[in-house]
Amino acid sequence: MRNIIVRCIFFALLLAGCTGSQPQYKIGVSQCLDDAWRQKMNYEMERELLLHPEMALSRRIAYGSNELQCAQIDSFIAERVDLLIVSPNEAEQVKPAVTRAYRAGIPVIVADRRVTGDEWTAFIGGDNYKVGQLMAEWVREQCTKHNSQFKSSNFTVLEVAGLPGSTPATLRHKGLMDDLPEGVVVHSVMGRWYKENAREAVSAYLRDHAIPDVIVAHNDLMAIGAAEAAGGVPIMGVDGIQPGLRAIVEGKITCSATYSSRGDMVIATAAQILHGEPFVRDTVLETTLVDASIAYPMLRQDEAITRDLETLHLFQTQTESKWRQLRYDKTLLIIWLIVLIALFLLAAGYIIANQVKLQQEIKQEILPQLEDVQEAIQLSHRDEAFAGRLKQAVDEHLNDPNLSVEYLGSMLQLSRTQLFRRVKTVTGKGPLDYIRERRLIRADQLLHTTDMTVQQVALELCFSSAGYFTKCYKEYFGHLPSER
Ligand code: FRU
Repeated sequence: MRNIIVRCIFFALLLAGCTGSQPQYKIGVSQCLDDAWRQKMNYEMERELLLHPEMALSRRIAYGSNELQCAQIDSFIAERVDLLIVSPNEAEQVKPAVTRAYRAGIPVIVADRRVTGDEWTAFIGGDNYKVGQLMAEWVREQCTKHNSQFKSSNFTVLEVAGLPGSTPATLRHKGLMDDLPEGVVVHSVMGRWYKENAREAVSAYLRDHAIPDVIVAHNDLMAIGAAEAAGGVPIMGVDGIQPGLRAIVEGKITCSATYSSRGDMVIATAAQILHGEPFVRDTVLETTLVDASIAYPMLRQDEAITRDLETLHLFQTQTESKWRQLRYDKTLLIIWLIVLIALFLLAAGYIIANQVKLQQEIKQEILPQLEDVQEAIQLSHRDEAFAGRLKQAVDEHLNDPNLSVEYLGSMLQLSRTQLFRRVKTVTGKGPLDYIRERRLIRADQLLHTTDMTVQQVALELCFSSAGYFTKCYKEYFGHLPSER
């Protein structure tokens, strides 16, 4: 019984599991960092994911460590994710893990920062070289503003660079250097993408150098850090999202270049790859300069988008918990239904088994008994008839001296043995004793109803002598025939 119910519950869970809309694809997301820009990208991914319930994300953050990121990618490979999204910390160092995933047959989308080589499925990211060029263009403008007549020979630019091995740092630097006006002096310090690093690097620089004419930082966070160390210097950053836009509005930094994250596009491309649909292999996103003239409306817009994304996220979390509850209720309902069906089947089985048992009992025990009883009844009917015929045959020949066992047998068409057995059955005595008993009863009647003497009665009923008759009479009735 317990076994059946346990099996039913297991079956119910299986059923409930099968009918729920479980995500079909597991996607590993390997993020190099966890700053405002990455968080925006994550939100965008989650928003797009609402349109793709068939996919589920598993996100791991490497916190700027190449080793950790490689280990995390390897764990995704071991888990056999259906697709991998990587934003590599440093191109060369993370490349081996990305290649391993790609060679293991896992489609790989490289987002934002590139890896070297071409063993990846798709790339979506900003135009970092163009970002560098925008920086150079802005430097040229600042240079022109600074010198009424274009003269750049003593114009100094301090570049606060991102992590050196990352493609954005390399390409932004290259774009800047390629397009700078001739004669401009460029000094570089390392901020590695972090605000605090940038502040310290710029402070250290200022201890040995004159204040630069402008500062270009590879991202807004480092631009803000640089501003904390070198207030008053025109500073350009990169990213153009909330922290940078706010810094521009507050006059802490001068401008920024937009650098889109487009997490939504990354997820849409993942869906196309997984569904075998056509997709763009290499998507390079546009960049543009943001200065004080447009920073405020952009900030408001970005805040509104963030609020919407947060609301969506909340809504998603609530919906998920409702779905979980619904799935739980459904499972419970199915369990109950199956337990009820199991109980019903058990009860039905019990009743049927009992019926079969009863039928067998009736067949094996009660029917034979009934047959016995019927036979007994038939026998007793037959005995009754025989008793009547016996009595009649004997009574009709009470005064016949030839009435013997053989004669009686021939009258009743029975052999001697049969006669003996059947007479014994119906009367409890042998044929001779029965004949004698009938004669004694008739004799008694005659003695009571006629004037016949004992002698006459004995003769009439074929007793060999009056004495013998008297003896038999006394034995049967307990008194002498003369004492009637
Ligand atoms: C965020 C970030 C951005 C920068 C980008 C380059 O992690 O540092 O600020 O523009 O990465 O990959």
